[in-house]
Amino acid sequence: MAAILFCLSLAWILSCLEAKTITSNEGVGPLCGAHTCATNAICSSRQGETSCVCDRDYRGIGSFVCVPENDNYCAIFNDPSVKSFDGSHVQVPGEQMTFAAHLGTKLCYRNDKGAIVTAAGSCDVRVYVWYCRRRGKFFTCGMLVKVMVFNNSTVKHHTTRIYGEASQGRYIFKEEGQRCEFGNGLFGDPIETEVAGIGRIKSAYNYSNNFAFLDVGVCGIKVGLRPVDSVWDPLITPAGLVVTTSQECEPDYLSVEQTICSPPTGKGTSLEQQAAELSQEVGDTVTKEDLACLKVICGDVNQNFPGAQTNLNNLHETCNSCDKRTLVQAIKQCCFILHNPSFVNCYDKQTDVAYSIVKKQKTVLKKTSKLTSLLDECLFGLCSENSDMCRLVQNSIEDSGCADKIRPNQYTILNSTCEYY
Ligand SMILES: *[C@@H]1O[C@H](CO)[C@@H](O)[C@H](O)[C@H]1NC(C)=O
Ligand SMILES: *[C@@H]1O[C@H](CO)[C@@H](O)[C@H](O)[C@H]1NC(C)=O
Ligand SMILES: *[C@@H]1O[C@H](CO)[C@@H](O)[C@H](O)[C@H]1NC(C)=O
Ligand SMILES: *[C@@H]1O[C@H](CO)[C@@H](O)[C@H](O)[C@H]1NC(C)=O
Repeated sequence: MAAILFCLSLAWILSCLEAKTITSNEGVGPLCGAHTCATNAICSSRQGETSCVCDRDYRGIGSFVCVPENDNYCAIFNDPSVKSFDGSHVQVPGEQMTFAAHLGTKLCYRNDKGAIVTAAGSCDVRVYVWYCRRRGKFFTCGMLVKVMVFNNSTVKHHTTRIYGEASQGRYIFKEEGQRCEFGNGLFGDPIETEVAGIGRIKSAYNYSNNFAFLDVGVCGIKVGLRPVDSVWDPLITPAGLVVTTSQECEPDYLSVEQTICSPPTGKGTSLEQQAAELSQEVGDTVTKEDLACLKVICGDVNQNFPGAQTNLNNLHETCNSCDKRTLVQAIKQCCFILHNPSFVNCYDKQTDVAYSIVKKQKTVLKKTSKLTSLLDECLFGLCSENSDMCRLVQNSIEDSGCADKIRPNQYTILNSTCEYY
């Protein structure tokens, strides 16, 4: 009964629920160069360079996360940049919630001998990430994981979202859950899901490395999040999200056209390949950065995370009104708005936008992001070939006094004549 109620839009129910808040220990480990090292990494000095390196039997990013050598991972960390399952890198700017990965796997578990083996049944796991703005850059601060477990003809829905904030090494997390179909309902208290005889889907927090994990071991998947510190240099303990897959659970990489994590080689089309295909289709060069920006901005993802600026949801619709060729042009001339921290800081003075768990509100009480409005107007002007909107955007950039923060020689909407017939 309770579960049914939560899947209806009875907003008043939410007011009587308070999800748990978790506070970690203060402090970080010793510095190694600019960073502290990840769990299972050591500080190494080679040829005068000090850096964190993952231990033997592990691989990853020594300053952020190391995963068992046999696992695949995609990490979205710092500015943010993505290191995909195939090892490729790309920058992904923006504050909107982004579709990171979609995985289909066998059900699996660890047997008495410690080996991971498959069981009857399958999983579908979708991972999303959202960002907070810090000093003109974007850093991860929340994750949403939607899991479906199939066995014979039954399905179990498990959806968890975890978000956090940090100040000088002190991290606070908030976790919420729901069991609605496809994760489309209201969030309430954290949940755990038992999968008959083989394991549970549950969260775990490490108070030493400040990671929150959703352990979907029954599908061979783990999703970890470290939110951004609002005071300390983000390089010390990089913020990010990591998705880890066990090969033993036979993951398939789905929705690769939508997700920001590229599949491993041989398991689907890489971002680079997708960009090449799009270049062919529209007869214009599309870089993987262009494509990443397109995926983030135009993704069909409901921007309903805590503290989301209200105008983030408009972007998808604006993109949808554009044919592909025009959209590619618009992306090339509008994405600079997000890619350039000094422009971001200059144009939108509300530099640090985030939901505050402690204060239960956005630190800056503003319902729309000036930056997102500019982006939306830029895309709209170029997509709809609307001369007035195009000029309006040019004027607001000129009037803001921030035009000199745009990198020299960058091709932007300022290059457009805004003349349409
Ligand atoms: C938690 O983090 C610490 C510090 O990196 C690490 O030593 C420990 O193994 C981690 N615990 C788990 C369960 O991963
Ligand atoms: C599970 O599925 C198999 C075939 O797919 C069927 O033979 C079996 O009866 C099913 N078991 C249950 C408990 O539904
Ligand atoms: C899957 O369903 C079968 C038959 O209903 C059952 O015997 C088995 O324990 C189930 N496995 C899991 C992991 O739920
Ligand atoms: C676009 O304008 C900028 C500055 O106005 C200029 O530096 C750049 O060369 C122009 N790019 C193109 C492709 O015209």
